[in-house]
Formats: sequence, C-alpha cells, structure tokens
Amino acid sequence: METRITVDAPGDAYPILIGAGILEQIAHRASEFGLTKRVAIITNTTLAPLYGDVLAARLPNAVVLAMPDGEVYKTLETLSDLYRQMINAGLDRGSTLIALGGGVVGDTAGFAAATYMRGIRLVQMPTSLLAMVDSSVGGKVGVDIPEGKNLVGAFKQPDMVLIDTDVLKTLPQREWQCGMAETIKHGFIADPALLQMASYSHKQEQPVDELVRRAVQVKVNIVQQDPYEQNIRAYLNLGHTFAHAIERVTHYQWLHGEAVGVGLVAAAHLSERIGLCKADIADEVEQLVKSIGLPTRTGNLDSEALYSAMSTDKKWLSGSSRFILLKDIGQPQIVEGVAKRDVIAVLEALR
Ligand SMILES: NC(=O)c1ccc[n+]([C@@H]2O[C@H](COP(=O)([O-])OP(=O)(O)OC[C@H]3O[C@@H](n4cnc5c(N)ncnc54)[C@H](O)[C@@H]3O)[C@@H](O)[C@H]2O)c1
Ligand SMILES: [Zn+2]
Repeated sequence: METRITVDAPGDAYPILIGAGILEQIAHRASEFGLTKRVAIITNTTLAPLYGDVLAARLPNAVVLAMPDGEVYKTLETLSDLYRQMINAGLDRGSTLIALGGGVVGDTAGFAAATYMRGIRLVQMPTSLLAMVDSSVGGKVGVDIPEGKNLVGAFKQPDMVLIDTDVLKTLPQREWQCGMAETIKHGFIADPALLQMASYSHKQEQPVDELVRRAVQVKVNIVQQDPYEQNIRAYLNLGHTFAHAIERVTHYQWLHGEAVGVGLVAAAHLSERIGLCKADIADEVEQLVKSIGLPTRTGNLDSEALYSAMSTDKKWLSGSSRFILLKDIGQPQIVEGVAKRDVIAVLEALR
C-alpha cells in the first residue's frame, strides 16, 4: 500500500508517494510519473550498482550519472562535472533529473536541476532515512564551499518525491540512527506519536512506512506554512545550534545525526534550565536519544569552544543568541537572548 501526500508549494503543488517497491514497479508507471522523455539519474558510486542501474533499466530513456560518495563531494566541482555529463548525455530543457540517494545527492543534484538550462524537472528519490524524512522535501538545495556548509544554493521545489522504503534494507545501521535523530526531532516539534514508534530502536522491527509517513507529514506541514524560512520553518533547527557547533569543533568527525542527538538533549536541558518547560522533559528526550543508540554527551569537547562556534552561526549574526527550545513535547519556541552562563552550564553538564 502506497501513501500519497500532496505538498502545497510556491509555484505548484507536488506529490510525495511513500511505499515499498516503488522503484521495482517504476516501469509500469513511467508515463504517470512523467519519465518517458530523456532522464538523468544522478546518484553516487555506492548506490549506482545497488539501485541506479536497476532504475535506469526500467525507464525507456535514462542514463546514470554517479558522483563520488560523501559530503566532501557536495561541491561546485562536482556540479561542473555533472553539468558537462548532462550536456554529453543530451539532456535538454524538457528532460528530467532524478536525484537518487541520500541528502548529499539530493542537495547536489537538486541544485543541478535548479540551474541546468535555467531549471529542469526534478524528481527526488531519497534513499537514506534522513533524506526521506527531511532533505528531499521542502525545496532547499545547494552545495558546500570551503568557508562553510550549504552556503551556495537555491529553492527548487521537486516535481515529485518518490520514497521507496524497501531501499532502507541496505542502509548502514549508523546512517539509520542518524535518520532517526531527525525523525524524533520531528516528533518533538509536532508529533508525540512518532516518539512512541521510534522507541523500537532497530529498523527491522519498525513499521517503517508509517514512521516515514508521519515524519514526512511534520516537515510538509511546516514547509507549507513557511516555504522560505521566514518564521516557523526555523523549528526544524531544534537541536541544530548545538549540533552545528559540535560538527565544527570536531571538524566534522561526528556524523550530523549523531551531533543532532546530543543537540536535542542539550536543547531540552536548556529549555528546562531557563524555566521554559517542566523538569521531566529533558529526561524523556535523553532516554529516547539513548534508546536509538545515539550519543547523549559531548564527551570531552570544550564548552567555551562550542559556545564560540555557536556564536559564529549565521543565525546569530545580530549578536544575540538564538535557540529553538521546547515549552513541551510538540511545542517548540524560538528563544533569543539566552544568557551565555546558562548555555555553558548545560554544556558542562553534558560532558
Ligand atoms: N535540503 C535540506 O533541507 C536538508 C535537510 C537536512 C540535511 N540536508 C543535507 O543532507 C546531507 C546528509 O544526508 P544523508 O544523511 O542522507 O547523508 P549521505 O547522503 O551522505 O548518505 C549517507 C550514506 O548512506 C549511503 N546510503 C544512502 N542510502 C543508502 C541505501 N539505501 N543503502 C545503502 N547506503 C545508502 C550513502 O551512499 C552515504 O554513504 C547533508 O549534506 C545535509 O546538509 C539537507
Ligand atoms: Zn539536521
């Protein structure tokens, strides 16, 4: 059984289809999905032999373009290689680009679709849990430059998002846990029932389709109300001010979702410390993060170093601190001007 969610996006609405086996069945649905003309499947070298070649074989006129695997390849250099390969493969303005992969492929290929010949059709086919519940929906695409992550990009709404949950079977456990960090983040922001579902920690035991559907729905509800991140889309950054600081201080040795795990715990403790939420919420957040197998402590990271990494965050440019915190489960709030001593106290307690 497949679920369909329609996203009301600027420009046009687009469907998200969620179900097991979509990739296998695509041959019968190529015209329904608008995939009968020239198609470029942009994926990476890990996923091309697993899914890219299978997908291309089922479409009438598709070519596979594989970028190297890893965040370090989410760059302008990769993009210029892709543009050249797209020209050589004969892609024109009427062609479609399918982004088949995790968030790295989705962001890079999405930016290619936004810019190639001033924009061509884009189908997001996320293969990691993180990409399914977060990055494939909402239209943010882009690449990293040496000065920072995601500094060059665009809003490019997909024409369709196809989520085949079967592909999660090959997702490494550590990547599954990272996707769960964003999934429970969505639960803490807006859907407490997701937290119940998430407490079964291993992917084999999950009612996966329902978990993905609920987590996607949270993102959809937010981006529909605030497509250009002028207000409530910022809620999706719950735990991320801490997470980005951890990533920066450790020079990206932690995976993003692992940093988000600690970040969620830190945001809950900070909410409690400043009297925004009840005392038991931080415990609840911490237990859940731990049950997924994600870290809940910063280890030996220096609290002052973390704080100064936060204060260079682009969202703090006005000089005043800015966090997404919790009033309660399902009730996020943007809080500005939190005192440095409170932030440091939370970081010290989490070492
Ligand atoms: N655009 C947005 O709104 C948004 C939101 C959140 C994150 N992001 C971006 O997403 C990226 C992180 O995405 P990610 O966590 O998916 O990382 P990723 O794309 O690097 O994928 C993680 C790893 O899992 C592998 N993989 C993916 N699917 C697989 C499968 N089904 N089977 C086997 N292996 C598989 C990939 O090859 C990769 O090695 C970051 O660049 C981040 O900036 C973007
Ligand atoms: Zn994130």
